[in-house]
Amino acid sequence: MKNYNITLLKGDGIGPEIVNEAVKVLNVVAEKYNFGINYTEADLGGIAIDKTGVPLPEETIIKCKSADAVLLGAVGGPKWDNLAGNIRPEAGLLGIRGALGLFANLRPAVIFKSLKDASPLKDNIIGDNLDIMVVRELTGGIYFGERGREEINGVQSAYDTEKYSVPEIERIARVAFDMAMKRNKKLCSVDKANVLESSRLWRETVTKISKEYPEVELKYMYVDNCAMQLVRNPKQFDVIVTSNIFGDILSDEASMISGSIGMLASASLSEAKSGLYEPIHGSAPDIAGMGIANPLATILSAAMMLRYSLDEPDAAQSIENAVDEVLKFARTPDIYTEGTKKVSCEEMGTLVSEIIKNK
Ligand code: IPM
Ligand code: MG
Repeated sequence: MKNYNITLLKGDGIGPEIVNEAVKVLNVVAEKYNFGINYTEADLGGIAIDKTGVPLPEETIIKCKSADAVLLGAVGGPKWDNLAGNIRPEAGLLGIRGALGLFANLRPAVIFKSLKDASPLKDNIIGDNLDIMVVRELTGGIYFGERGREEINGVQSAYDTEKYSVPEIERIARVAFDMAMKRNKKLCSVDKANVLESSRLWRETVTKISKEYPEVELKYMYVDNCAMQLVRNPKQFDVIVTSNIFGDILSDEASMISGSIGMLASASLSEAKSGLYEPIHGSAPDIAGMGIANPLATILSAAMMLRYSLDEPDAAQSIENAVDEVLKFARTPDIYTEGTKKVSCEEMGTLVSEIIKNK
């Protein structure tokens, strides 16, 4: 029997509640598809700051590096908001992305049929089946560039720098082209090449890599136009590839098209097979501990983990099918509509598990 080692980073706020439900579901698919999972827990973010004084303890890095994959809840909260930038919970998240070399962040924005009404866009704009994959560069650009403050003649300034090297752009471009090949063979590279030098290098490099993928229809878009096109005509997009900061912003926008940020999963991948999987929503401190969080994005992240890092596509598919099924009759409060049953975080995890068992 195959055995996988998974490191859990439950994090802060609703993180522990939602990860627990994903573990419940993982245990059910493991049993059904005949593999074993060993879990190790490690601290990241606010909880790590409270316990050790730093958001990313060395031990966490070691436990993540030795795992087949990492499942993360969420980090951050008001308690740690006034700490200096380099010791905030978010610094832990950037740190683990860097330490594991997770340069490729896949953020699918899909509309679940039964949740179509939740989209703020009109029916005729979203069509029947919206499915966009945002491929975000995750370990470079302004998030990792030189930053600092200086004071000259009593005037304070602060700066952050956007810098990309050709190899960094090439590898993320290849991930995006490969993804487009598995989908509808359409790739849109998003930049601000009318202003930024780093974007001009981005464009040149993506163009060069496109020669390796003659079947993929490549277009370019400026980021401001892309932000507009995503709500004007989202159906034009299949795969979007972009820099760290543009991807951060556009993936939030793309997720809202689906109506429910509580539903969307993500995968962060390195050159190695192991990856880190997390919901794209945050730690929602306002509802932490109330038992009303939506665990589905984390459960779907566990499905992505099975598909991309553990080579268990059937198990992944069974989770995705069960989520589709459960939405027909049960909803957490964030996506509740009349005619369905309002359930807690824990009940949602149990229902998904039962559907998988009974299929
Ligand atoms: C995300 C988040 C993070 C980011 C924050 C929490 C540092 O917004 O994963 O999109 O900006 O990358
Ligand atoms: Mg973000």
